[in-house]
Amino acid sequence: MKKVIEIKNLNKSYGANEVLKNIEFSVNHGEVVTIIGSSGSGKSTMLRCINLLETPSGGQIYYRGQNILDGNYNIPSYRTKLGMVFQQFNLFENHNVLGNCVVGQVKVLKRSKEEAEQIARKYLSVVGMESYINAKPKQLSGGQKQRVAIARALSMEPDVLLFDEPTSALDPEMVGEVLKVMKELADSGLTMLIVTHEMDFAKEVSNRVVFMDKGVIAEEGPPEQIFYQPKQARTREFLKRTLVHHDRANHGPA
Ligand SMILES: Nc1ncnc2c1ncn2[C@@H]1O[C@H](COP(=O)(O)OP(=O)(O)OP(=O)(O)O)[C@@H](O)[C@H]1O
Ligand SMILES: [Mg+2]
Repeated sequence: MKKVIEIKNLNKSYGANEVLKNIEFSVNHGEVVTIIGSSGSGKSTMLRCINLLETPSGGQIYYRGQNILDGNYNIPSYRTKLGMVFQQFNLFENHNVLGNCVVGQVKVLKRSKEEAEQIARKYLSVVGMESYINAKPKQLSGGQKQRVAIARALSMEPDVLLFDEPTSALDPEMVGEVLKVMKELADSGLTMLIVTHEMDFAKEVSNRVVFMDKGVIAEEGPPEQIFYQPKQARTREFLKRTLVHHDRANHGPA
């Protein structure tokens, strides 16, 4: 299998706080990898290092076999290969839905406005938002905003799409519509790296689950292993805590 992204010995510190410690990790072409773990374990930092929103303190990041940190790699070109979907949507409030999906294509990829609009419409239809092209973000629900954010990322036709807790800011009744779109993308063969607290989704959609704890990858494997036969005590403890919360959320306080 072809590695799209490979990370070797990645470290990230904020002052004396070592947030990522010798991370070794890769994502293969067409693979859907989910990252789970407690708050503060370093999940977002790892995604932000991969797309260079943060500068790693040490280590290597390879994109399709090439070391992007060696000083010679064209970083802006690397960034266009990665799409990113954030918890807080980060839409451009002053642009309508279509504009949100067009600006990056025109500015960064130098596509013509006509071509960009055609591509934007295609992906807005994939996420079921084609009838909202003239709406401004403030007129949309959270679930609709996130679907537009996904269409915006897809419009750049990235090689891999990164998600950082895409459903955590949503009202519960809107989580399903976003996960449904993500599941369809996964089924279409898109390479995806997803930080999530949605354990059922991770179970159902991932090829591989990565469990992070205190800045290290404590365990990784297929969902059946991680959820039903975890090898590490800390994975078991995390899952026990999370599933208790999950039951409370679904059935009210015990
Ligand atoms: N910009 C920053 N400056 C200083 N410390 C930071 C910064 N960003 C993150 N940290 C620290 O790095 C650690 C890991 O944070 P990170 O946001 O990666 O965790 P996370 O696993 O994504 O947590 P959550 O599930 O709450 O989103 C935390 O201790 C956090 O306080
Ligand atoms: Mg986070």
